[in-house]
Amino acid sequence: MTEYFNLTVYLFTFLFIVVLITFLVLSNFTAAPFLPSSSRKSDIMIIEGNLKSSDIVFDLGSGDGRLVLMAAEQGVKRAVGFEINPLLLLFFSKLCAFVMKLDNAEFIFSSFWKADLSKCDKLFIYLLPSSMRKLEDKIKSEMRPGSLIISNQFRFPNLKIKKENKGVYVYEV
Ligand SMILES: C[S@@+](CC[C@H](N)C(=O)[O-])C[C@H]1O[C@@H](n2cnc3c(N)ncnc32)[C@H](O)[C@@H]1O
Repeated sequence: MTEYFNLTVYLFTFLFIVVLITFLVLSNFTAAPFLPSSSRKSDIMIIEGNLKSSDIVFDLGSGDGRLVLMAAEQGVKRAVGFEINPLLLLFFSKLCAFVMKLDNAEFIFSSFWKADLSKCDKLFIYLLPSSMRKLEDKIKSEMRPGSLIISNQFRFPNLKIKKENKGVYVYEV
């Protein structure tokens, strides 16, 4: 009986690791691999987001969900993360939102290219430069005037920077 239990645990752990690695590798071929914003950068992004209780905040490629959870903790109306790695979504983001009792935090298992950006006031991103040009077009056609984009590390090719703070770039549509 104990042997069966041990075998099941080993099998589950093995599958978990295989799925985790598969999605981590796959994300290299999408908009960005999983590399969370450092806590210093996350703090700056939240400050520069100038979050208000009426705000709807999106994080495109939410990773472990830290920015969404931080925004939700600040009391925004809704903070939404889009993520294609189901393990990060289930075992980090959703679990943390549940434990932290953050009803205003939502995590969606979907490519962020399908997100309707007209629905958000503040947009957080930490994506590879190769995605920034395509995203710039999506932002121009969908986001409402006055909305903010807060980008960790990488700049858009054409959008005008409103502010820079230690490697965090703020844009206003
Ligand atoms: C550099 S990490 C940033 C995580 C988080 N935004 C942060 O700043 O800590 C990029 C994340 O985007 C996710 N990702 C890449 N392409 C995506 C896509 N098309 N749709 C949704 N998520 C995507 C990856 O799985 C990864 O977790």
